[in-house]
Amino acid sequence: MKNFVKFGTALALAAGMSTIAYAQIKPEDAIRARQSIMRVNAINFGPVSAMAQEKIPFNKDIFVANALRLESVWAMNPTRFFVPGSDKPVAGARIAAFTDANGEIWSQPEKFKAAYDKETQEIGKLAAAARSGDEKAMKAAAGDVGKACKACHDDFQVKK
Ligand code: HEC
Repeated sequence: MKNFVKFGTALALAAGMSTIAYAQIKPEDAIRARQSIMRVNAINFGPVSAMAQEKIPFNKDIFVANALRLESVWAMNPTRFFVPGSDKPVAGARIAAFTDANGEIWSQPEKFKAAYDKETQEIGKLAAAARSGDEKAMKAAAGDVGKACKACHDDFQVKK
């Protein structure tokens, strides 16, 4: 309990500081931060999605662990890292920072936020289903999470 309170305090402090911290983040660091969060989302969502589509056998423990990790990682909110100046690759950065973000993110911020909110809602439902242990509900919720990933990528990621 004590640790939990401490953790809560740290979170509250971090939230208060975030405006300053994100205003100062370098574009190349912002690009890498959002891509890293996305990448870890995909690592956790991969097995969940494959089980939901019955491409691999259902294993409740693995499903639940990945769904709950996805919830935690999504809570880092990758959309905070689409800061001004990070709409194009950064040349000369220590590690080259390419980006697949398209300009709509900055020209249609409300639409982008709606896509984020939709995903937050679907991931919340997936985590609730995982906690309930109902296999059917878990698989259905996983499908909706995947649709929300795809919907945002269709609108806001450069087509390859
Ligand atoms: C709100 C919009 C949005 C949602 C929702 C979203 N993504 Fe993304 N994702 C993006 C954008 C934009 C990029 C391109 C970022 C860049 O290159 O700067 C991206 C990039 C990625 C990448 C490539 C990262 C890299 O290494 O370059 C992966 C993998 C990914 N997303 C997985 C997912 C998964 C899995 C989900 C669902 C659980 C998801 N995304 C949901 C917007 C979204």
